[in-house]
Amino acid sequence: MEEVLRVTREHAFDYPIIWAENFDSLADHMADLHLACTKICVVTDSHVEKLYAESLLAALPKNIQTDLFVFPAGEENKNLDTVNELYYFLIEKRYSRKDILVALGGGVTGDLTGYAAATYLRGIDFIQVPTTLLAQVDSSVGGKTGVDFRQFKNMIGAFHQPRMVYMNMAVLSTLDDTLFSCGMGEVLKTGLIQNAALYRWLDKQRNDILSRQTEALTYMIRECCKVKSGVVERDPKEKGERAILNLGHTIGHAVEKLMDFSMPHGHCVGVGTVAAAWLSVQRGLLSQKDLAWIKEMNTVYGLPNQVDGLSAEKVLEATKSDKKVAGGRVRFILLDAVGHAVIDDTVTDDELLAAIHYISRRKNYE
Ligand SMILES: NC(=O)c1ccc[n+]([C@@H]2O[C@H](COP(=O)([O-])OP(=O)(O)OC[C@H]3O[C@@H](n4cnc5c(N)ncnc54)[C@H](O)[C@@H]3O)[C@@H](O)[C@H]2O)c1
Ligand SMILES: [Zn+2]
Repeated sequence: MEEVLRVTREHAFDYPIIWAENFDSLADHMADLHLACTKICVVTDSHVEKLYAESLLAALPKNIQTDLFVFPAGEENKNLDTVNELYYFLIEKRYSRKDILVALGGGVTGDLTGYAAATYLRGIDFIQVPTTLLAQVDSSVGGKTGVDFRQFKNMIGAFHQPRMVYMNMAVLSTLDDTLFSCGMGEVLKTGLIQNAALYRWLDKQRNDILSRQTEALTYMIRECCKVKSGVVERDPKEKGERAILNLGHTIGHAVEKLMDFSMPHGHCVGVGTVAAAWLSVQRGLLSQKDLAWIKEMNTVYGLPNQVDGLSAEKVLEATKSDKKVAGGRVRFILLDAVGHAVIDDTVTDDELLAAIHYISRRKNYE
């Protein structure tokens, strides 16, 4: 049983997100796009290549030249060196503006391929085939593409929407528990910012989700994509509302940076969300009961509520280098209910520091 959701903004973009149980219908859906391409380059990392490259290549339209570009897996390869290699590969194989890239993999592959597609010959089409939960609920939808530059995360990039997002739900079976919980960090965030019903459902259906029942996962991912695509349709370039997707990310990113990226992004977001929820309680926006619920849900889905051994001052300092700083102040996302986020430009350093203290585990503290 397939399901489709369209992401549209008049005169700007219009693309389908497809949920399927295998890759079988990919060629048919590509035919619906009426592409003029004569070549398709699949870009993937060295892990995903072993798992899914063969079945994906077999599912591409026949009578079109297909190529496979593989780069070593890992965030450390999401950089301009890998993009250079890909450009050269495309030039050597004479890819033209009509041709197309397919990103097969997690957020690293999607971001890197999208950026190459945005810039090669001033922009060519690409299709997202996300294979991690995080990529399915977050990075594959919305058109943010990019790479890291030296120690700066996502510092170079472009907005470039895909022509299609094709999700084969079967690929989630090979994710380990940590990768799965990372995606759940973004799922919980999505419920918290704009979908209280999803959040309650995640509470009730925990057994189905943790046992990765396909039907439950499809529903969950579709609800997340609905929220994300709605936000992106209204504010594609983050001039306003799109900032709410950053709930938990200001402190989360700072923690991630100070831990030298040893703590996975989704886990940092989980902790950052607790800090934001605590601050929302201090502001009188959210109840203690909701804060306790948010922490319980983190625990259910394998996300931490606290971190060890970080200096709160250093975390605060690191929040300043976050890209979401508006006029010297951090643009912070608070909750005034489970299911409703608010953008706030008035959070002070003292408030941030107190929130960081709240998520710091005392015993190793400073
Ligand atoms: N563009 C956006 O809007 C956006 C949003 C959120 C995150 N991101 C980016 O996404 C990246 C993180 O994404 P990620 O967690 O998917 O990282 P990732 O792409 O590195 O994938 C994590 C690991 O899982 C492996 N993997 C992928 N699919 C698998 C599968 N089905 N089974 C087993 N292993 C599999 C990969 O090879 C990799 O080793 C970061 O670079 C982040 O900046 C982008
Ligand atoms: Zn995130």
